[in-house]
Parts: sequence; structure tokens; C-alpha cells
Amino acid sequence: MLTQQQLDFFDRQGYLVVENVFDQQRIIEPLKAEYSDLIDDLYADWLAEGRVTKDPKDLDFFGKLLEAYMAGCDWFQPMDISLPGDRIQLDTPMHFGPAVFNMIRDSNLLDIVEQLIGPEITSNPIQHVRIKPPARDLYQDEIRAHITSTDWHQDRGVALEEADETEMVTV
Ligand SMILES: [Fe+2]
Repeated sequence: MLTQQQLDFFDRQGYLVVENVFDQQRIIEPLKAEYSDLIDDLYADWLAEGRVTKDPKDLDFFGKLLEAYMAGCDWFQPMDISLPGDRIQLDTPMHFGPAVFNMIRDSNLLDIVEQLIGPEITSNPIQHVRIKPPARDLYQDEIRAHITSTDWHQDRGVALEEADETEMVTV
């Protein structure tokens, strides 16, 4: 439960930091395992195509991600939880596995959202998962927002006009 002080802060500042929302064993560990399996599958395909060469046994999760980045392989869309806003093809990949689904419907999370916008909650397709290689390893001129740090922004700006009167919160 949020305190009145936290609710007042949100009303005044437009954001709120709430720590330790997700249970480590129930939500976080299954998420890590799911994305670990996913990058393993993606990496195996890139390896078979000759696009990456390092043995995956010598690489951890972020090592594989970095190899993909250096080789110009796209991991972002296959690991994202939504399709792109345009240019969707029959084979455009995305990932929405059970661990991700459990995260976005987690009761700890939704109880907080309910306190902010009320009990009628839907998820909109502006949602993303943006898994990034370590910033120190990126090319100096890297500017793509889904790879380097994402600037502070409001998602209302990319919602349709019909959503203007909708209470919306990004979590
Ligand atoms: Fe956003």
C-alpha cells in the first residue's frame, strides 16, 4: 500500500519510486530464466548463420547480448513484449512468455497502479522491454534509444488522441 505521503508526492511530481515491488523468487528469477533461454535460442540461430562466432559456453547473458550488438544482430525486437508501431510482417518477432505475463499482472504491481488510477486497469501496447548491453561497451556514437540510455519522457505523447482523457501511468 502506498502512503498518503507517496500519493501526494506522485500528484505533485508526476512520478514515484517504489522499491522491492516484485518478489525475487516468484517474479524476478523466472524472468531471468525466461530471457536467458530466449537469448540462448537467438544466439544459437546467429551462430548457425555465421553472424557470431564466439562459443556461447564462454559467454554469460550480457556477453551474448554484446556479441549480438557488435555483429549487428537484432535482439531488441525478438525480446520486446510488443510489436513495432508500424512495418509489422507475418514473421516480425516479439516475446511475451509466461514470466513476462506474470510480471505485468503481478498483484503487488497492480495494487500500486490501482491506488494511482483506480481499479479498472488495462495494459496498452506502448509497453516495452528494453534489454541493453552494458553502456561502457557501446559504440561512442550510439544514439538509438532502445540500445543506449532512454531519456526521461512521458508516454502520453505517443498515445492516440482518443486516450487524452484516460488516466494513464507508466510502470
Ligand atoms: Fe516510454
